[in-house]
Amino acid sequence: MQPFTYDALPGRVVFGPGTARARLADEVSRLGASRLLLITTPRAAALARELGAPLGGRVAGVCTGVREHVPAEVAEAARQQAAGTGADALLSIGGGSATGTAKAVALTTGLPVIAVPTTYAGSEVTPVWGLTEGDRKTTGTDPRVLPRVVLYDPDLTVSLPAGLTAASGLNALAHCAEAFWAPDRNPVTALAAAEGLRALAQALPLAVKDGADLAARGDLLYGAYLAGTAFGVAGAGLHHKICHVLGGRYGLPHAQTHAIVLPYVLAFNLPGAPDAAARISQALDDAGLDPANPAAAVQALAARLGLPAGLRDIGLREDQIGEAAGLIEPAVPADNPVPAGAAELRTLLHAAWAGTPVPSLAGRVPDDAAVQAAREEAVTAEVLASFAGAAPPRYREVAQSLVRNLHSFAREIRLTQDEWQFGIDFLTRAGHITNDRRQEFILLSDVLGMSMLTIGINAPAAAGATESTVVGPFFVAGAPETPLGGDIANGAQGRPCYVSGTVTDTAGNPIAGARIDIWQSDEDGFYDVQYPDGRTAARGWLRTGPDGGYRFWSVHPAPYPIPDDGPVGDLLKAAGRGPMRPAHLHFKVDVPGYRPLVTHIFVAGDPYLDRDAVFGVKESLIVEFTEHPPGPAPEGRVLAGPWSRVAFDMVLAPAADQAP
Ligand code: BEZ
Ligand code: FE
Repeated sequence: MQPFTYDALPGRVVFGPGTARARLADEVSRLGASRLLLITTPRAAALARELGAPLGGRVAGVCTGVREHVPAEVAEAARQQAAGTGADALLSIGGGSATGTAKAVALTTGLPVIAVPTTYAGSEVTPVWGLTEGDRKTTGTDPRVLPRVVLYDPDLTVSLPAGLTAASGLNALAHCAEAFWAPDRNPVTALAAAEGLRALAQALPLAVKDGADLAARGDLLYGAYLAGTAFGVAGAGLHHKICHVLGGRYGLPHAQTHAIVLPYVLAFNLPGAPDAAARISQALDDAGLDPANPAAAVQALAARLGLPAGLRDIGLREDQIGEAAGLIEPAVPADNPVPAGAAELRTLLHAAWAGTPVPSLAGRVPDDAAVQAAREEAVTAEVLASFAGAAPPRYREVAQSLVRNLHSFAREIRLTQDEWQFGIDFLTRAGHITNDRRQEFILLSDVLGMSMLTIGINAPAAAGATESTVVGPFFVAGAPETPLGGDIANGAQGRPCYVSGTVTDTAGNPIAGARIDIWQSDEDGFYDVQYPDGRTAARGWLRTGPDGGYRFWSVHPAPYPIPDDGPVGDLLKAAGRGPMRPAHLHFKVDVPGYRPLVTHIFVAGDPYLDRDAVFGVKESLIVEFTEHPPGPAPEGRVLAGPWSRVAFDMVLAPAADQAP
């Protein structure tokens, strides 16, 4: 037997069905109290009124404004109410928040507390108080806040909903577990904790299944009482330090936070606490649960009770993990069974955030797979945390999401070292082949569908407006201006093609003076910039006339392969995909007051319309090009050979619709 010192806590406990109704008045008299401030939760207010009725004039005031985590302003209001009503005792009826508020008043006034708990919080038998100021929770221990008498009445708990029963019961179970390694533990607290754990683990599934099961309800209160007494003496360990930060700083719900975090703390601490592991296993065994792996058994129990799996399900954001770890680290007791630095805490929190199954403890040391998973998660968590302070917030959001998704991609496919090197080589080649006439990264974006996806995200459908499509790599700023009806071919080879149409707003009003940039391939499927001689051909810009009309001559476009002599071409070949784009003309329309439009018109009947290498085809952009024999043609021309003609009207959405 190890030497130990034990300050056994005083306090009277009255236990049993019906005690709250039958014994409360006697217990108040026994304390000699005559002016009670009744402190309760909104949920328990009706019950509190009913229980308070037999006390008659001894209830001097009722405080129902309690909130979770005891905000300082709530405590202050209750203190003032106690002073204003001349209270000589505090009667708390409800869960941990009611007890906590009564304790906050007792802390500064020394008034005795009578507690009638309606959940399994256990705080009614501890001298621990807690207050939340802003987003920081402060806790302390003071004998004055320990309730003088507690009435445990299972009748009061039958209406506790299944979800709250589960969360509150697991919270109590966490008190038991923690009592095995918290700083002031002793053999007596371990005894209480083991028996409490057994009672809770055994009764929880029964009470969650049938809330009116009075025997199970009684066992839960008994377990919660033992949990509270053990925890009240042993003090807070790693688990509570974690939960206090999560509750105080991020406002996570108390009981659910405990329920989620506990299995991870068990998995973390038990390898370093073999005695605790043995006793917890025994208690779980006695309760009919699998004793082989206590952490997994507790997690399975929580899942069976319908509790959320991860902290992300109750509101913690992944980018808060790094900060949380930093806040918890200094509070971890020095003799925690396993050293918990910021890196370990990040790993633990990340697993709890994601709700991943706790590592199985084969022989009570994590197996290789668990160590592996924890290592991988630690890398992601560390990188995410490195962006946590980035400004502006949008940058942080983008960077963290990129890291999250990139890491999860690598994990999903179990990326090999060689594959990643291949990826790096691919990007290196894309960089080397890119110059001011060749843009391999746009090609990559196009063939991966990222260009069209981004266009889709940023050009929300505006009723009636012309649809957008890819810009591609061949747009050139500073193309020559062409008058209305002029010819942009400038020597490009191909059958002459006359293009005309209008630009209007969504109400059909013509838009005069809109700038239209046009660029396209010649009959061989090449853009001017693909020729080495620096020519400018089949590209130009013009402005719509007063009637919103535009018209110009050019050449009939041809289908063409996107440049496929670089890494993007290799990618297409490896996928068995072709490089072809169906024949099209590019338009870029700009005019103040309207959303800029980047689009194509596609030649109806083109064989590649259903397999565009860059996914740019939209039904509304496919247009009939008519063929005409030699002879007179628009703009006073007389042509010696056949020519084609197409009409395409464009509708611009107002700029107000533009995505920011
Ligand atoms: C284009 O239409 O010019 C184009 C678009 C995407 C990739 C290559 C070319
Ligand atoms: Fe093109």
